Amino acid sequence: MLHPTLVNSTRLKTNALPLQLIEHDLQECERIYDEALAPFKSRFGPIVHHLKHYRGKRLRPALLLLAGHACGRVTRPHHILGAVVELVHTATLVHDDILDEANTRRHVRTVNSLWGDRTSLLLGDMLFSAAFRLCSTVDATACEWIGDATNRVCAGELLQVSQAGNLDLREATYFEIVAGKTGALTECCTRLGARYGGADERATEKLAAYGRDLGIAFQMADDVLDLQGNEKLVGKTLGTDIEQQKLTLPMIRALAELPELEAERLRTALRNGLVNDAIDLVSSTGAIESVIEEARGMMLAARSGLSILPMSPYRIALDQVADWAVKRDR
Ligand code: IPE
Ligand code: IPE
Ligand code: MG
Ligand code: MG
Repeated sequence: MLHPTLVNSTRLKTNALPLQLIEHDLQECERIYDEALAPFKSRFGPIVHHLKHYRGKRLRPALLLLAGHACGRVTRPHHILGAVVELVHTATLVHDDILDEANTRRHVRTVNSLWGDRTSLLLGDMLFSAAFRLCSTVDATACEWIGDATNRVCAGELLQVSQAGNLDLREATYFEIVAGKTGALTECCTRLGARYGGADERATEKLAAYGRDLGIAFQMADDVLDLQGNEKLVGKTLGTDIEQQKLTLPMIRALAELPELEAERLRTALRNGLVNDAIDLVSSTGAIESVIEEARGMMLAARSGLSILPMSPYRIALDQVADWAVKRDR
């Protein structure tokens, strides 16, 4: 049923992602994104129309474009691939919101809350297939890299689902999940941006490592936001990690740090999806601060690889994106 400028400081002063240098490139990516969905419009107008309001922060195309500029040049393949990575990312979110039973995404209702899980499942599939059709207009390497990254994202989500309810989750498994579900796509973005920007193999791999570490730090910050963020600012349903018994690093560390009696109270809260109780117990420890500190370390590791690039406004912007990834409040 269908219804309803040149940035000259490496320190970021606002909570916004620094996109000024690539605004025109991003507009071109969005034009291509819309064009890829146009064939579905006549039959599924309301859903495709909903996707118009369903625009996020555009981190992934931004990484791809900034990496391209920082390595030399941005050309047509970058614009196409910017649309491709945003299609893949949006598909993973549409599916993730089914898994997390989330009601809000990107400040609007989720597709699953408006049209149900079945429609959402198929819309996610449609977004994935639109991405791969579009990617085939670039070349086989792009298809291979996008395919590999998407496989790793799905494997990360699958591992997380298979570990839901495991209150003994190890930190190493948490990092495996996060490196897959989030780091793989951000790594792919900077690798693609560098390659099609004319970078040699060494610089391409440095940029890829930057993307991976940034993605991991970004997800660690996201997991803190899920516990302590402001839902109105973030624009998505929070607390779902607890509700779905998806153990994140703050929870793992709080369980290790709390005295046994309190740890047992936290386990009970997690088993029963008692979001406020679990948040209070995690917040009573130093776990959140320790995760933020580790995310900062990961972000600094990401930034260190950028020194292979010649100094430019784009390199500075990449530095700022890493800084933003852990400071953000949305
Ligand atoms: C959400 O990513 C999923 C995570 C990896 C945490 P974003 O926070 O980049 O989502 P949008 O694209 O801005 O909505
Ligand atoms: C999912 O992680 C990230 C994806 C790759 C889809 P989360 O479940 O933490 O993402 P949000 O918080 O819903 O955006
Ligand atoms: Mg989610
Ligand atoms: Mg989250």
